[in-house]
Amino acid sequence: MQVRVPLRDRPYTVHVGAGVLAQVGEIACRAVTAPATKAFIVADSGVPHAVVAACEKSLADRSLLPVTTSVTPTERNKTWGTLQSLLSQFAQARLDRSDLVIALGGGIVGDVAGFAAAVYRRGIPVVQCPTTLLAMVDASVGGKTGINLDLPGAGLMKNMVGSFWQPVAVIADIEVLRSLPAREFRAGLAECIKHGLISAHADEPGLLDWTAASLDRFAALEPSALSELVHRNVSFKARIVQGDEREEAPDQEGGRALLNLGHTFGHAIETLPNLSPDQDPSHAPLLHGEAVALGLVAATACSASLGLCPTTLLDEVRAILTRAGLPTRVAGLPPDDALITIMGHDKKARGGSMRLVLPLGGGRARVVSDPPRDAIAAGIAAMRG
Ligand SMILES: NC(=O)c1ccc[n+]([C@@H]2O[C@H](COP(=O)([O-])OP(=O)(O)OC[C@H]3O[C@@H](n4cnc5c(N)ncnc54)[C@H](O)[C@@H]3O)[C@@H](O)[C@H]2O)c1
Repeated sequence: MQVRVPLRDRPYTVHVGAGVLAQVGEIACRAVTAPATKAFIVADSGVPHAVVAACEKSLADRSLLPVTTSVTPTERNKTWGTLQSLLSQFAQARLDRSDLVIALGGGIVGDVAGFAAAVYRRGIPVVQCPTTLLAMVDASVGGKTGINLDLPGAGLMKNMVGSFWQPVAVIADIEVLRSLPAREFRAGLAECIKHGLISAHADEPGLLDWTAASLDRFAALEPSALSELVHRNVSFKARIVQGDEREEAPDQEGGRALLNLGHTFGHAIETLPNLSPDQDPSHAPLLHGEAVALGLVAATACSASLGLCPTTLLDEVRAILTRAGLPTRVAGLPPDDALITIMGHDKKARGGSMRLVLPLGGGRARVVSDPPRDAIAAGIAAMRG
């Protein structure tokens, strides 16, 4: 299966299916205009060695000399240190502007390797090879790359430094999901449910219902269900990104900013070290997708408190998240004021105003600037366990 991302200056293809990673050499060669001689693989340390080796072989078969480095994907590592280390290694490997970066891993590796590719020699091509469900359905498509900023007093600020740098191709091989821990797989479903809640903005009505009806097939890793899940979500995201590549649409139009549904609440709790999805402290901190799931609950409750959606939507959102095995409440959240301060630092703020994406029901959402404090507090209250 293929999805075309039809951007005016940098169109590219997302290849979806079982076993497509074995074609990375061929796909990479076709995707670049100038012939490359080297391919620098930034491999997620959690990806099985056999997957990395298959990728290296496919590149070598196409006369692309593979050089591989490994990155341990933590939010703490998605910072300057890793970026600098990658850039130094690119230079040591003597990559030039026609050579390729292959980002082989989850969203953390995709973001930091993509950003390194964006700034090395003012930009070299990157092929995104997502290996988590979350990276396949969301992070690898659309060109957002970046790192977190560790701001004294404010903690780790998610994705504060980055660049729009579109890949030359994306390869989503659903076979690699077999080794993904179940908790990580469920975290990816949170972004799919988010897409379902805004699907009417990209002419994908029914995405949420289809996702809800197919959860058992996803959990069983049924290949046709997984391919369709990735294909539908990538098609959806491609349409949104095509309309507003750099998230510049005015608030009343929504545009790409709608993809941030749940993320302002979610980012505020994602980097808090002690939060666990299931009361077991050994499971702290939350994964990105788990924080997004809780953020979807908070955004829906906030919207309901403003009368923007029916209160039944909150029940529906909780029900589908619970069926997907995702948290809808979390114990140990800091006081409202502390969370609202962190939310105010979110990079989606504009002109000092907090901007929240709130669901309206029927697959629609809208951007609300400076929502009243009571409404934000209602959102936070809905997440408290
Ligand atoms: N750029 C974007 O548009 C965008 C969109 C959404 C999320 N993100 C970012 O993505 C990140 C989250 O990504 P994620 O959920 O993929 O998490 P992740 O990158 O932390 O990976 C999750 C875990 O799975 C392991 N792993 C990866 N592939 C595996 C495989 N095939 N088998 C076994 N283990 C495997 C990793 O080693 C890691 O431990 C966050 O930093 C988030 O901000 C970016």
